[in-house]
Amino acid sequence: MQETTWIAVDNYFCERLIPADPVLTATLQNSDAGDLPQHNVAPNQGKFLHLLASLQGAKTVLEFGTLGGYSTIWLARALPEGGRVVSLEFNPHNAAIAQKNIDRAGLSHMVDIRVGKALDTLPQLQAESIHPFDLIFIDADKPNNPHYLEWSLKLSRPGTLIIGDNVVRNGAVVDPASTDANVQGVRSFMDLMANNPRLSATALQTVGSKGYDGFSMALVIA
Ligand code: SAH
Ligand code: DHB
Ligand code: MG
Repeated sequence: MQETTWIAVDNYFCERLIPADPVLTATLQNSDAGDLPQHNVAPNQGKFLHLLASLQGAKTVLEFGTLGGYSTIWLARALPEGGRVVSLEFNPHNAAIAQKNIDRAGLSHMVDIRVGKALDTLPQLQAESIHPFDLIFIDADKPNNPHYLEWSLKLSRPGTLIIGDNVVRNGAVVDPASTDANVQGVRSFMDLMANNPRLSATALQTVGSKGYDGFSMALVIA
């Protein structure tokens, strides 16, 4: 099976299951116009995150890595009025584009972008006591994934769902000798999920318009 087939199937699923959405289309157009990398989740993946947040009955979401706000919008749209997404973004240019996209989506009252390195903005977030978060999406710089998981646990309660993006990396994740810091970050993240008795975890491979990659899922059970 080839990548062209994966893409055709993704396009088919998106056509069938995800109605044309001017706000999301504009979000991606503005992200392109601002020269952001196309590292946003695919539409069917965004819908998947949205459904997870709905299943979770989430009122509070924490996101690591806003980029242009594409996944942020999918997540925020699953929340009830009064819900809140806190999204952590290092790059002020990305954050500014995301803010415009979120304003256009009519979600600015629910989304709070914190600009700076996540490890620098997390202590302040913790001090504000918005947590525990109901769902956490880890999708920023992968070498820091182990730290992001530790922080996620601090900001969780039993029942919190922690999703990680890009845990397959075209299959590179299976190489213990990889010199890629992203791969090593994901591998340490997997080890931490496996060894922490507060977590029950799995991971799934995906193919599609975003290539060969995957998601991890961990439920906080204690
Ligand atoms: N979740 C987005 C994609 C995020 S791409 C979506 O699916 O639409 C990863 C983002 O993480 C980039 O915008 C990058 O600038 C940001 N990032 C990288 N290092 C970071 C750090 N140390 N703290 C916070 N964000 C970071
Ligand atoms: C990259 C990062 C992402 O979060 C993603 O979804 C795809 C690619 C990257 O850094 O290459
Ligand atoms: Mg990602």
